[in-house]
Amino acid sequence: MDKLLIKGGKQLKGEVSISGAKNAALPLMAATILCKGKSVIKNVPKLRDVNTMAEVLKTLGAVVEYNNGILNIDTTVLTEAVAPYELVKTMRASVLTLGPMVARFGHAKVSMPGGCAIGARPINLHLSALEKMGADITLDGGYVIVDCCKVLTGAHILFETVTVTGTENIMMAAVFAEGKTILENAALEPEVVDLANALNSMGAQITGAGTSTIEITGVDELKPLDSHSIIPDRIETGTFMAISAITQGNVLIKRTRVDHIMAIIEKFRQTGVIIEEEPDGIRVIGPEKLTSSNVKTNPFPSFPTDMQAQFMAMMAVSNGTSIIQETIFENRYMHVAELLRMGAKIEIVDTIANVHGVKQLKGAPVMATDLRASASLVVAALVAEGETIIDRIYHLDRGYERIEEKIAALGGDVKRIKYKK
Ligand code: EPU
Repeated sequence: MDKLLIKGGKQLKGEVSISGAKNAALPLMAATILCKGKSVIKNVPKLRDVNTMAEVLKTLGAVVEYNNGILNIDTTVLTEAVAPYELVKTMRASVLTLGPMVARFGHAKVSMPGGCAIGARPINLHLSALEKMGADITLDGGYVIVDCCKVLTGAHILFETVTVTGTENIMMAAVFAEGKTILENAALEPEVVDLANALNSMGAQITGAGTSTIEITGVDELKPLDSHSIIPDRIETGTFMAISAITQGNVLIKRTRVDHIMAIIEKFRQTGVIIEEEPDGIRVIGPEKLTSSNVKTNPFPSFPTDMQAQFMAMMAVSNGTSIIQETIFENRYMHVAELLRMGAKIEIVDTIANVHGVKQLKGAPVMATDLRASASLVVAALVAEGETIIDRIYHLDRGYERIEEKIAALGGDVKRIKYKK
């Protein structure tokens, strides 16, 4: 397993360009299942998760080619409607193929994702919505089997909890449903809007994406996705903002969308970080000492759970005590034990982390436990005194494209230690 070796203490300066959003790429790739033909998706980040989704599509019979940020997916001949355990267990977002497969074939078989490092993450809301649309659902051998004979029927669905992939899955399932499907308490995330825009460009009739009520009127057919360009990754943006903020850096973050990161900008400004909008991006200037600040994670447009760990690393070296509350996932504090190894002072009480800022973190060997936890260790290591070795960075490779190259280009001292067999 590869590791990252980071020597902290450098001020990061320069420009960085943000890649396409992982969490927009994955549903868009799944959406290509919906119709026959060749789809083209642009600005696709080169990531392990994108690769895994490509493998899922290949299992179904699709031909997938990736070249320089452009994905060509040919779904003319799909022979299977099965997302196998071997792939779903490595990436639960594979479940995004469920809605499109049921919509195209009238049936689908998807390995039931188990829990993961950050929580139990059930898919009951995806399944109850499909049931409401007339699908029969059974569980056999760890697989969810969904059958609706021919087509789903439009339904009025109220999501009990805001669910991002649940909203995406049902939006895709509903594109061919008879009549109208109304999703209430739908997720507002930009990735949901990107998917709705892409589906509409394929011929779907979806209104209201980006609000809590989405309406989908069933159509008879769709055409393949024609050169849709994926939105920038707002969490990669936030992570580079944290990297600049914690290193007293001065970084211009290019190819990003300010309207997708308003809550992050607002929170960072409260900690003394200077953020200026420039014509081609946002400039993030870290203060001499960060000011402590409280944060509670919530669905978009509030502060995202996917930035909680990186923000905690910043607060670990702030001038006071910060209260961080995670409300989305029940086990998303795995990075805390690793930050403690670097000298952070953090106590967890239920869903709350009390972070007492320390003067200096110290480099240590640490272990990445999930994607955003790994990112927080990178943020912390860049300010820590001495060397940090981060093990198991395959987690990082799931969601950050060439992160060590991007950090090195900003003057950070980071090296990938390749695993030798
Ligand atoms: N939930 C249920 N039942 C469901 C679905 C969700 O109880 O059927 C619960 C979850 O357990 C969780 C909450 O609802 O407590 C919200 O989960 P959601 O379904 O919104 O999460 P997700 O769709 O599985 C996506 C992102 C995550 C991100 C969350 C929250 C993708 C592929 N994944 O997950 O991204 O943290 O939304 O914003 O879009 C990451 O990129 O590191 C990552 C984990």
